[in-house]
Amino acid sequence: MILQPVIRDVVTRITAKNEQEMLALGARIGAALRAGDTVALTGELGAGKTTLVRGLIQAELPGIEVPSPTYTLVQTYDFPEYELWHCDLYRLKHPDEVFEIGLMDAFGEALCLLEWPDKIGDYLPEEALKLHIRFEGEGRVIELGPEWSDRHV
Ligand SMILES: Nc1ncnc2c1ncn2[C@@H]1O[C@H](COP(=O)(O)OP(=O)(O)OP(=O)(O)O)[C@@H](O)[C@H]1O
Ligand SMILES: [Mg+2]
Repeated sequence: MILQPVIRDVVTRITAKNEQEMLALGARIGAALRAGDTVALTGELGAGKTTLVRGLIQAELPGIEVPSPTYTLVQTYDFPEYELWHCDLYRLKHPDEVFEIGLMDAFGEALCLLEWPDKIGDYLPEEALKLHIRFEGEGRVIELGPEWSDRHV
């Protein structure tokens, strides 16, 4: 069981009633991001983190398959102007593995979208944009932290 941080000052709450709305929200969030950004996606198993990332990537690269990087830990995608790194850090055994998977070099250069960011402890860039997904009925509520306040989501 990983203790997940609670976003203390949620600036935005968005409801996604189903998978389609989650994919659409991914696209909308992607439009507010740029190279060098890191997004810390939290939420329990099955919350919809990968779904949101899938919507974000497919908005830029229509039709591309976006598998969960559960076992590969990292999947990279070539966006026109930068690389996107989609990481699922759930299976990381030690925070120091960030060096082995090359993530430390990607921070600040690529757009990095991290599931289970707590697994890398203090290696998570301080300015990372926090995004938490909660279950609400059949759907989900997505909460954005204060780092998003100057972004147009
Ligand atoms: N807004 C939503 N409302 C209802 N169901 C959703 C929503 N978003 C995603 N789902 C569904 O939730 C399930 C799990 O989604 P997903 O794999 O994206 O979760 P995850 O947070 O990445 O899980 P994990 O921690 O295992 O990586 C999928 O069946 C997906 O269709
Ligand atoms: Mg996932």
